[in-house]
Amino acid sequence: MPRITIIDVHGTLHAVEAETGTSVMQVAMVNGIEGIVAECNGNAACATCHVYIDEAFRERLPAILDNEEDMLDFTAAERRPGSRLSCQVKLSDALEGMVVTVADTQI
Ligand code: FES
Repeated sequence: MPRITIIDVHGTLHAVEAETGTSVMQVAMVNGIEGIVAECNGNAACATCHVYIDEAFRERLPAILDNEEDMLDFTAAERRPGSRLSCQVKLSDALEGMVVTVADTQI
């Protein structure tokens, strides 16, 4: 059960854990972490679950697929090198200790 830290839209750190295969978006929603909207409920179709992945973990993530890549062009907050849609980032043991920052705006 990987443990990660999510920094919410207010800058507050939340240490959370979840089953392998759970998306960062799901973890954030279940734990009431503010700043994720997730209008499309995890279908990579809204770009309102935008987060920034800590640099140390970016290469451990699964590759960005075409639909995520397309939606990352429509994020409300600036797209940066660590930008991902949190609904497309599934937890695994390789991501133990990952730090994720919620983008400051989603809409
Ligand atoms: Fe809509 Fe992630 S929840 S793109």
